[in-house]
Formats: sequence, structure tokens, C-alpha cells
Amino acid sequence: MSARQRRIGILTGGGDCPGLNAVIRAVAKTAMHDHGMEVVGFRDGFHGLVMDRRLLLHRDDVSGILTRGGTILGTSNTHDPFRWAVRRGGKLVYRDYSARALANCRRLHLEALVCIGGDGTMTVAGRMLAKGLPVVGVPKTIDNDLAGTDQTFGFDTAVQTAAEAIDKLHDTAMSHHRVMIVEVMGRYAGWLALHAGVAGGGDVILIPEIPYDLGRVCECLVSRSRRGKRFSIVVIAEGAAARGGKLVVARRDEASPEPVRLGGVGNQLAAQIEQCCGLSTRVTVLGHLLRGGTPSAFDRVLCTRFGVKAAELVAAGRYGRMAALRGGEVVSVPIRRVAGKVRKVPPGHPLVAAARSVGTSFGD
Ligand code: F6P
Repeated sequence: MSARQRRIGILTGGGDCPGLNAVIRAVAKTAMHDHGMEVVGFRDGFHGLVMDRRLLLHRDDVSGILTRGGTILGTSNTHDPFRWAVRRGGKLVYRDYSARALANCRRLHLEALVCIGGDGTMTVAGRMLAKGLPVVGVPKTIDNDLAGTDQTFGFDTAVQTAAEAIDKLHDTAMSHHRVMIVEVMGRYAGWLALHAGVAGGGDVILIPEIPYDLGRVCECLVSRSRRGKRFSIVVIAEGAAARGGKLVVARRDEASPEPVRLGGVGNQLAAQIEQCCGLSTRVTVLGHLLRGGTPSAFDRVLCTRFGVKAAELVAAGRYGRMAALRGGEVVSVPIRRVAGKVRKVPPGHPLVAAARSVGTSFGD
């Protein structure tokens, strides 16, 4: 590859979500059309950066992908160049491969690396920046828990998917006079459960930021039953916990920078509800279903705006910044102010208040 050609790199890191391809398309098209740059895509997030697994993106590669779920580059939420897990004698040991990642970028004469991801990806991007790699970020995640932006892309689509699932569960809940528990992802933040719960008319919404009381949850369900509403919808975030209780962990992935994988709180709650108030209860865990599918129209627009912004930041040499949505405007914020922070639902958030006004219980 010639040193004179303007060239940037791009990768998608962390868990996938709808809209990744729409961002890749917007970054690449803007970089190619408006700035005459070549775009090198690294495969599977930081794995490709360290192992130098990449492809040169051509116009045709980034055409026709606006509506496609997943990522044409692949991703990984288990590879951190600064804490690279390798097996030695059956044991996991950790190595720092960040110099290798930096050397790969320098050899390719990349002007900058666009990192599309959540807080894990932004944390690594921030550390690579400190090592001298010019980076620009784009905020992704269905969890909507990234600091510095009012919204991440992928969230709107995940809310829509969850709301559609809740609508269907409503039907069967009514027919069988059951309590339907819907467990949604979101890690340590309740944005997804809150928005999906409000959109789906959930009777009870349980989020990590508002610890619940089993007695209160049961009171709400029983009082609905007494009023002739012989079914209820409970939307619970995977990170929700009873007051004084513990997070329910589904598994640990030790190779991952963040080893804890949440899941299972819905089943735990169902058993407790049946025991406490004898109401027939079923559980649906939406899980990874929320990460797939074509992005919503809102996300397609947001992804396009974010991607164009990221390419412009690179072209203007404004490195170390992440595209962000603030009050409807796409702006940029320093990555170092975002990295390592989790944006949670303030318990007094207007949407929590609105949900309470229409009779939704938060189990508190
Ligand atoms: O951060 C996105 C997310 O889907 C979380 O909501 C969830 O807790 C986690 O990733 C699941 O990770 P994995 O795909 O490794 O199971």
C-alpha cells in the first residue's frame, strides 16, 4: 500500500447491534467520496487490529448494506489489545498486544482509526489514543448506557423488537390469565426495559436503578387480578435485582475484558411470584434476539449522521473524539470523558415518572 494515499481504518467492537453496517457505509462513503480516502476494515474488532486481519473496502462492499443487520466486518467482545487472553499450559494468561496493534496501523499509514462500539470499545480506543494512535469513536449499543450521548444507535431498534414481542405476549397472557415475564438485555442499565416496558404497556417494569421488593410486585399483580385484569406483563432488565439481593449471573467468560454475563433473573422472579401469590407465570427471555434485524428508520438516520460525522472528524484531524447526539444535534465529545463510564437511568427520570402516572409499578 502506498504511503501517499490518504487512508483510514475502521472496526466494529463489542456486542453487535442493528445499524453497524449503516455506520460502516456512512463512514466509508463519506471518506471515499468527500475526502478521497481509502478505507481498511479490520475483521472482528480489535482481534483483527492485533492480528492484522483486514480487507480494503471498495465502494461495492459498502453499497446495499444500509438495511442489513449484523456487521460485514465481524466483531468480538472478548479481545482487548491491552489484556489479551492467551492459553498457556491450560491456563489463561494475559498479554499486552497494544504495541502490535499500533505497529499494524503505522505500517498501513492510517491517518486514523474509526472505532464503532460501546464503553468497552471506547475504553480501548482511549488507551490507544494515549499510545499515539489517532482514533475517532461512534457510539453503539442496544443498552443505551454510553456516557456523552443522549442515545446510542441500535437502541431504538432493540426497543421496537422488544415492544413487538411484548405485544404478542400480551395476547397469550390475556387468553391464559397469566403473568408474563419478559426479560430483556441492558447489562447494568435499565434503558431498554424502561422504554420497551412503556411502549408495550407493561404493568410492572423492573430495572437495575430501582431495586424491587417482591411483596410490592405481588401486591400489584394480585390487585390487578382482583380488579378483573386477570393477566399482567412484567418487563424485567437482566441487571435488575431485589432490594438487598444480588445480580443473577448466567455465565462468566474469563477471556472477555468484562467476564460477567447477566441472565436468569426472570426465571428466578417467576418462581418467587408463583410461590408468593400463586399466579400462573411464564417467562420469555428475549436475549440476543434484541441484537439482530434490520435497523429502524430512526436508527438508519442516526447511523448515517454518526458515520458522516466520524468521517468529518477524521478529515478535520479532530482525533480523540466520539460522535454524539445532544438535544437532536450530532456533535462530538472527547472519548476520554466517555470511556469507562456507564450511563444509568436516573430513578427520577421523566419516563419513569410518566410510567408511574399511567399506573406502572416499579416494584418499589
Ligand atoms: O452490551 C450488549 C449486550 O447485548 C448486553 O445487553 C448483554 O448483557 C451482553 O451484551 C451479552 O453479551 P454476549 O453476547 O457475550 O452474551
